[in-house]
Amino acid sequence: MKHLIPKALRSLAFALCAVAASPGAQAAGSAADLAPTPQMGFNNWNSTHCRTEFNEAMIRGIADKFIELGLKDAGYTYVNIDDCWAESERDADGNLVVDAKRFPHGLKALADYIHSKGLKFGVYTSAGAHTCATTEEGGFPGALHHEKQDAALFASFGVDYLKYDNCNNENIDARIRYRAMGEALRATGRPIFYSLCEWGENKPWLWGGEPVGAQSWRTTGDISDNYKSMLENYERNVELAGNGGHGRWNDPDMLEVGNGGMSDAEYRSHFSLWAIMAAPLLIGTDLRTIKPEALKILLNKEVIAVDQDALGEQGWRVRHDAATGVDVIVKPLGDGSRAVVVFNSGEAVRDVAVAAKDLRLKPGSYVVRDLWRHGETRGDGAIKIKLAPHASAMYRISAA
Ligand code: GLA
Repeated sequence: MKHLIPKALRSLAFALCAVAASPGAQAAGSAADLAPTPQMGFNNWNSTHCRTEFNEAMIRGIADKFIELGLKDAGYTYVNIDDCWAESERDADGNLVVDAKRFPHGLKALADYIHSKGLKFGVYTSAGAHTCATTEEGGFPGALHHEKQDAALFASFGVDYLKYDNCNNENIDARIRYRAMGEALRATGRPIFYSLCEWGENKPWLWGGEPVGAQSWRTTGDISDNYKSMLENYERNVELAGNGGHGRWNDPDMLEVGNGGMSDAEYRSHFSLWAIMAAPLLIGTDLRTIKPEALKILLNKEVIAVDQDALGEQGWRVRHDAATGVDVIVKPLGDGSRAVVVFNSGEAVRDVAVAAKDLRLKPGSYVVRDLWRHGETRGDGAIKIKLAPHASAMYRISAA
């Protein structure tokens, strides 16, 4: 008898450990577990919107390109589809129906294909009666009041990521709508990355983590493929440094790099700014036709490493010169070094000097590595650079 209790306790402890190690328990664990660093991947919206070229062949082709172009090796993981994948009506059981013209083999087969490449699959719907896209047939059904059923369907497809939009929300409090889906996702037992697309309207950075259980939230309206739009989203997101990071990522919307509406220098600024703000890096261009210069930007591993740094800090703007448009953003990194972006948002060429003390560096000897030119200089950590309009420079500064 005297061995019985310890043995029972041992079994109980074992059972608890087994539960803790199951996928369901992971999903129920802390939201940060799913996103220790900002998510990286692809979403079709910026390149296709709802046009017919958004289809199964495209998304499979994108998954192939993740491997062929070295994007998977660079850390890009999620292949996500946006609005317009569903039929305009639910079926007799109330389930969402996949548009068989766009996705003849269905989303389960697509998820299987993406998983076979070691990648993850994401899907989209809205915390509203309908999603955001409008069609002659009256749009597409959203998940409001169907959260459990839709989350279960997504899990049955093998979905790893949900982007949850905000259109047609019947004026129900955002916290209630987004929490209902967060709970429904957790109840599936499948770890599903939860990305809120609430456009920052109700300060989701204050409640998206707990109690809603999301890993990221949009802080802005939709980005467009032009410099002004990119700048607006940056301006809004950079102010939120204290509210982001550490598994709770502020999301200034997906990347436009490669879509053709900005110069290469502007796209380098876009990518540098998103990385220093620890923003999600979701490619929004068709990788089957991407130009080499755009691909080079998306594959800059030194810049990606700043975004993905384990410390998980969103960079802080330490200089904002309204007269010249010059900004300096600093992000502390896990190895004790810091990343710096110097950004000339204005319309004139600028000579910019940043002193070591402006970067909060202690007096000492530093290696300043240029993350776009891939060269190094040594000194006290100060930076001097001539920047064309809309251009940026990005550095990693470490003790020598
Ligand atoms: C909203 C979102 C976009 C996109 C579209 C789809 O505008 O903010 O990112 O998902 O809906 O209709």
